[in-house]
Amino acid sequence: RKIDWDIHAAEKEGYPHFMLKEMNEEPKAVSDTLSPRIKDGKIVIDELNMTDEQIRAVKKIFIVACGSAYHTGVTGKYVMEGLARIPVEVDLASEFRYRNPILEEGTLVIVISQSGETADSLAALREAKSRGIATLGIINVVGSSIAREADNVMYTWAGPEIAVATTKAYSTQLIALYLLSIHFAEVRGKISADQTAGMIEDLKQLPEQISMLLSHQTSIQKFANRYLAAEHVFFIGRGIDYAISLEGSLKLKEISYIHSEAYAAGELKHGTISLIEDGRLVVAVMTQPQLFKKTLSNVVEVKSRGAFVMAVTTVGNTEVEKVADYVIYIPETNPYFANSLAIIPLQLFGYYVSIGRGLDPDKPRNLAKSVTVE
Ligand code: AGP
Repeated sequence: RKIDWDIHAAEKEGYPHFMLKEMNEEPKAVSDTLSPRIKDGKIVIDELNMTDEQIRAVKKIFIVACGSAYHTGVTGKYVMEGLARIPVEVDLASEFRYRNPILEEGTLVIVISQSGETADSLAALREAKSRGIATLGIINVVGSSIAREADNVMYTWAGPEIAVATTKAYSTQLIALYLLSIHFAEVRGKISADQTAGMIEDLKQLPEQISMLLSHQTSIQKFANRYLAAEHVFFIGRGIDYAISLEGSLKLKEISYIHSEAYAAGELKHGTISLIEDGRLVVAVMTQPQLFKKTLSNVVEVKSRGAFVMAVTTVGNTEVEKVADYVIYIPETNPYFANSLAIIPLQLFGYYVSIGRGLDPDKPRNLAKSVTVE
């Protein structure tokens, strides 16, 4: 059963496509997902239904999802492990459900899904529940199957998302993972109240920073129009920048039909570098301060083999201009939250390449908004 959104019921409100409308709704979606969970300067996630003692008893977390939701899980691993120091495994739901995972006492399985109807993710949830494992859904569609069957649900408040390529729901899934990670870290005594307060301030800046990045649509469109005939595009990054690369690559692939791959930048010399030819577009994501220099050296490597490099980095990292051909700067934020900002120009890039190629980004070929079959 495909979920055919009644797209006539949801207006495009003057936008040419739902995807562009939904990108422009990201600031509000992020704010709507954040604000109910920040009370008097504290993070309060009532719907978690977990006592502090239960949170302290968590020994391992699995994050299970598909597609873009899986990509937020890759970022979630870095943030949860970095802040709360809880081991996190991220699994594609279609793999998790068949690999007889080792689920021991004290495990929490988090299933992330915009639709809450993805067959593989629902099956993964049921697998965890059949083993008596605690489950939490991070879901956008209220009352969906996964939302109903998970032990607890942390809803993302992105509102209805019509475009097949997710943008605002993806951004709100990241917010849910940040909130969860900070809350778990504080309850487990890994960060102080001051550190929590500082991160809450950073989170509160995100909606406005996203708005500012969305205002660069015209310059991104101009750059995108230079790559409408590209055949292969590579996205590279390390750590959270690798997670961002995964999503940037999927956004381009699924709506422009250009072959694209995301690579952990450190992997280039283990094979991929042989694919870099004259004029090949490489998108280098460089938001993580402690990895910046490493990825910069990868940029130099691919440049020396003829690549054209678009870099996405934090304002102030001007030395990248010596090597990259096109630089997009994102505002300062906590590096754990940089994904929320760096993904915006990459969503816009995918969108403008798609429409530049005369395609419909809302309804890409062979794709459905929710994959309710295996
Ligand atoms: C993302 O742009 C795609 N539409 C797709 O990868 C999607 O994220 C995936 O199918 C998971 O869907 P869900 O979040 O509804 O479970």
